[in-house]
Amino acid sequence: MLLRCGWELTVEAKADISAREQWSSRTAFVLAAVGATVGIGNIWRFPYLVGEYGGAAFILVYLGCLAVFGLPLMIAEVAIGRRSRLNPVHGFRYLATETSGSPAWLLAGLMGIVATLCILPLYSVVAGWTMAYLVRTASGILVGVTGDGARSIFNALISDPEKLFGWHTLFIVSLTLVAARGVRQGLERAVRVLVPGLFLILLSLLAYSWGGDALQRALDFMLAADFEAVTMAGMLAAMSQAFFTLSLGMGALMIYGSYLPGDASIIRSTASVVLIDTLMAIMAVLAVFPIVFSSGLSVAEGPGLVFQTLPVAFGRMGGGMILGSAFFLLLLFAAWSSGLSLMEPAVAWLVESGVLGRGWAAVVVGLIVWLLGIGVVMSFSAWSFEFTFADEVRTGGLFDVLDILSASILLPLGGLAVALFAGRTLSRKLMAEEIGGGEGLGFWVWYGLIKYVVPVGVVVILLRAVGGI
Ligand code: PHE
Repeated sequence: MLLRCGWELTVEAKADISAREQWSSRTAFVLAAVGATVGIGNIWRFPYLVGEYGGAAFILVYLGCLAVFGLPLMIAEVAIGRRSRLNPVHGFRYLATETSGSPAWLLAGLMGIVATLCILPLYSVVAGWTMAYLVRTASGILVGVTGDGARSIFNALISDPEKLFGWHTLFIVSLTLVAARGVRQGLERAVRVLVPGLFLILLSLLAYSWGGDALQRALDFMLAADFEAVTMAGMLAAMSQAFFTLSLGMGALMIYGSYLPGDASIIRSTASVVLIDTLMAIMAVLAVFPIVFSSGLSVAEGPGLVFQTLPVAFGRMGGGMILGSAFFLLLLFAAWSSGLSLMEPAVAWLVESGVLGRGWAAVVVGLIVWLLGIGVVMSFSAWSFEFTFADEVRTGGLFDVLDILSASILLPLGGLAVALFAGRTLSRKLMAEEIGGGEGLGFWVWYGLIKYVVPVGVVVILLRAVGGI
């Protein structure tokens, strides 16, 4: 009998499951992982953080965080995934018991799934804003809009549950349809279109500002290296952005790694993913800043940069309708391919528990996220409420609750679990075998980082997030 009941995994079940689907090649994995990592975080969050925290200085700190925390954790997650060839819940448990660790490690996988279910409704609602803005820019409604006008248009949208509900439903249904088709027919086919699409749109946006005076100003701003602006808050923002942008700590990369062909190099694949993710984030800054500068606006507006400042800029410039539509399409593609990776851990868990077939598993996960999303849709209107977290008053209801729970608590906790599991529970030999290349210098650097440096860094983020330091 196959495993039933969620986490007991028999040897037969494992043998059965190891006949499961895989990416068709290493390139397919890289495309899917780039799709997962390049998301709203790159196109929306990264540019406004760079604007807020002083250009090149912030970018340098961020690159440091990617190298010291991001890449080592991604290597660990993908290696654990591939070693187990299972979803995160069964995977943690299976590897732990194989190496005489505690079966309770399955809780780490479960926590990752909870994190994906918290982030996905947020993602869906922001994707809904994006779709609404795509229609608005394309139809010319925003031409000539003023700063105040753009602000009130945005506020009207987020407090209009009916509109948001429609977009949210559309987004979740589209994710469910792809997830239901499986790894190769669903995910792989989607990312083969989305990821090159993302890249091409970004390139055309860049080409638009190429050589112009505004690009020079954007570069000047970025290269000014204002180290004063990188406060403690800025350093922590760089660190959590590194986590978020690489989709770490929630099993998304673990499940993608579990579909990675056995002969593919984990180091080369993950390094390509980190490199492309970073490149795309920097390209996004170089696309967004010149547009904002050319309209005489400021890039240091915080989260309002994309939905409030950019529409004003698009509304003022020749060709703004086309450029604006391209930009929001880019954001939508990015959100969509990341959304797919957020569904996969839960769907795979249900399938590999033997509880449901893939189609029904996708429907059940889609339904849960859709229901949670209704609460998020109402967060800025009927169901808004206020609360204080780490000395900050938050007014965004369930939106803010899920945001804090996932980005500030569950992601770092998940990262900590991965670091402890890979660096301490599993043996060094097993990890070296899975990562490949033997126990050379590179391996030792990775091992030192994952065993000592990453756990300390993550605990600092966690303490900071809950207001402990
Ligand atoms: N990496 C995505 C982004 O930058 C966010 C994400 C986190 C996606 C976790 C999937 C899993 O927007």
